[in-house]
Amino acid sequence: MQHFLSTTDWSQSELQEMIDHARQFKNGLTSDALKNKSIALLFFNPSLRTRTSFEIGAWQMGGHAVVLEPGKSAWPLEFELGTTMDKTAEEHVSEAAQVLSRYCDLICIRAFPKFENWQDDRKDQMIKAFAKYSTVPVINMETITHPCQELAHMMAVQNRLGDQKKKKYVLTWTYHPKPLNTAVANSSLLIASKFGMDITLLCPTDEYLLDKRYMDIAKQQVETSGGSFNVSHDIEEAYSDADVVYAKSWGALPYFGHWEQEKPIRDQYKHFIVDQQKMSMTNNGIFSHCLPLRRNIKATDEVMDADYCFAIDEAENRLHVQKALMSRLINQS
Ligand code: CP
Repeated sequence: MQHFLSTTDWSQSELQEMIDHARQFKNGLTSDALKNKSIALLFFNPSLRTRTSFEIGAWQMGGHAVVLEPGKSAWPLEFELGTTMDKTAEEHVSEAAQVLSRYCDLICIRAFPKFENWQDDRKDQMIKAFAKYSTVPVINMETITHPCQELAHMMAVQNRLGDQKKKKYVLTWTYHPKPLNTAVANSSLLIASKFGMDITLLCPTDEYLLDKRYMDIAKQQVETSGGSFNVSHDIEEAYSDADVVYAKSWGALPYFGHWEQEKPIRDQYKHFIVDQQKMSMTNNGIFSHCLPLRRNIKATDEVMDADYCFAIDEAENRLHVQKALMSRLINQS
């Protein structure tokens, strides 16, 4: 049984098949692949797009989605084995995953890092525990990566550019008043490298580099896919001749859990905002963000409202790629 925890577990051609299937859904294909099936959507964190697109996608294919919010509308959960559960958790993932597997055909998890200790958070223990104890496929709805966003993003890039191979792809850090999850930034490197793009990771200093695990995977994947991977702290160099600019803010990993120390550092880099002046340096480049986005903090109104911005297309694609993904996982023998 195959889960969908990370795109690194799937080949480029398998991912492309799902994108192609999603394109058929976008063009009007209907399916009853989830007829008489049910899916559990567990949200440890808020969502607009993910919850809506999964619920509606399941319904469109004849299935039923149950939304659970552990710690709110469902019991708080523990994932570590052998621990004495004398804190807030009332239930262990071991039981929760097995019980949900008796009711549901898919289990989907959103569990962000706790933002206290990166060495702990990078283990991604909540979703791994669900994958271990579940007897049905588990889908990552964003933990320390966001693979569903990856599929939606690559589908939109291909729709705009055609063949994405060897196109200059810039992942730019942007300012945000709070330190945010690195998941979408990690995922941006994973999918662009898998699909053979020439990646530039633009961030203010080395302190804002992403986890070595994801940078190393990107370097390995471009070896196979024919792309390249480069880091830059120079805005002009990075934007010059870019075909795609993807923006995301994230907290600097060396300051994980000590965010008051990071705050004065990040406040120096408000000029990393994506604006028209920067976009004019590109090769008629296109721009996106996973959303939600604070306007005039991460990107200007002018950029967000430009024809070259495909953030809304990317968000729409979440519905289509997740339908393709659910169909694929539910049809496993
Ligand atoms: N991009 C994304 O996952 O959006 P939500 O957080 O609103 O689900």
